[in-house]
Amino acid sequence: MKAIIYRQSGPSSVLSLEDIETPLPGPDQVRVKIVCSGVNPTDWKIRSGMTIVHPHGFQIPHQDGSGVIDAIGEDVTERSVGQRVWLYLAAYNNPYGTAAEYCILPVERTVPLPDNTSYELGASLGVPALTAAHCLGGNPAALKDAHVLVAGGAGAVGHYAIELAKFAGAKVAATVSTEEKACLASAAGADLVVNYKDQEAVEQLKNFAPKMDYIVEVAFGTNMEINLALSGLGTKIAVYSNETTDPVLPIRRFMVTNASINFVMLYTVAQHDINNAINWTTDALTRGALSELPIHSFPLKDTAQAQDAVEDGLIGKVVVTP
Ligand SMILES: NC(=O)c1ccc[n+]([C@@H]2O[C@H](COP(=O)([O-])OP(=O)(O)OC[C@H]3O[C@@H](n4cnc5c(N)ncnc54)[C@H](OP(=O)(O)O)[C@@H]3O)[C@@H](O)[C@H]2O)c1
Repeated sequence: MKAIIYRQSGPSSVLSLEDIETPLPGPDQVRVKIVCSGVNPTDWKIRSGMTIVHPHGFQIPHQDGSGVIDAIGEDVTERSVGQRVWLYLAAYNNPYGTAAEYCILPVERTVPLPDNTSYELGASLGVPALTAAHCLGGNPAALKDAHVLVAGGAGAVGHYAIELAKFAGAKVAATVSTEEKACLASAAGADLVVNYKDQEAVEQLKNFAPKMDYIVEVAFGTNMEINLALSGLGTKIAVYSNETTDPVLPIRRFMVTNASINFVMLYTVAQHDINNAINWTTDALTRGALSELPIHSFPLKDTAQAQDAVEDGLIGKVVVTP
């Protein structure tokens, strides 16, 4: 099969298109013929060596994807050949990521893709939607009428945080930095969209809700004052991304709000919580409540350019098609 391979961390030039033997699924694994491979920031970060996970032997990149199951391993009963699926964390502790014609992975990292759902949308879900659902607490029933602030409402995680929260019946405010991103956050269903660079950003958000019940935070340091102003008894802030410099945490100012701050890293979230996030995502997906951001599609041979585009902050979702 054709696959994108790297054997050492580094810039995107370490990626090369190779012909390798098509792998067979082992026990509790399935093999998926990949239609779309979704690209996330984590893919270029791991490849670059930023996260200290270096490939053992070889690595095919990309955690997310969508396709059709074409072989199942021993003991697999919950999936069948010919089933459409979306994939998450495919390349986690597994050399076979989704940037290839085929991927083998543990069966629990495949989720049925409804017939009416495009492969592009399927490949957009994995890391972003599961992170968003987990940051929102994993239980849609708790979101009914809650006030939610999504920082970075046009980002991949932010997009699904808005859509999943709206699907659960929450009132959602989102922050963005440009008009183009404001349009995307509104299209996702945000009730209020605020430019976080605006002098009156806090005031606009406080008019929407004096305090938020949930804050899904992409830039905790930069948005510290917004978070402090919108926090109160019971506010749950989920921090899922770090910035170049770690912020100084004003502990006493946060203490008086009684907010709680949760740090989220999808790779090490308990499977039980991942399953809650999958159930929420699946429910929303089957009811047509999830959409894809504008898609930028690259052929498999141009995976390096696709990863560079994500690193450069291209607006929308980057996918690679074998
Ligand atoms: N911990 C985890 O498990 C986990 C899971 C998924 C993603 N992540 C990380 O989370 C980050 C975002 O991922 P993504 O896939 O959503 O990336 P993305 O699609 O590039 O979105 C990031 C968004 O954040 C916005 N942003 C940046 N600074 C902001 C600020 N101060 N306030 C509000 N918005 C701001 C960006 O727009 P502007 O710059 O124009 O504001 C952009 O729209 C990446 O660093 C990724 O590695 C971590």
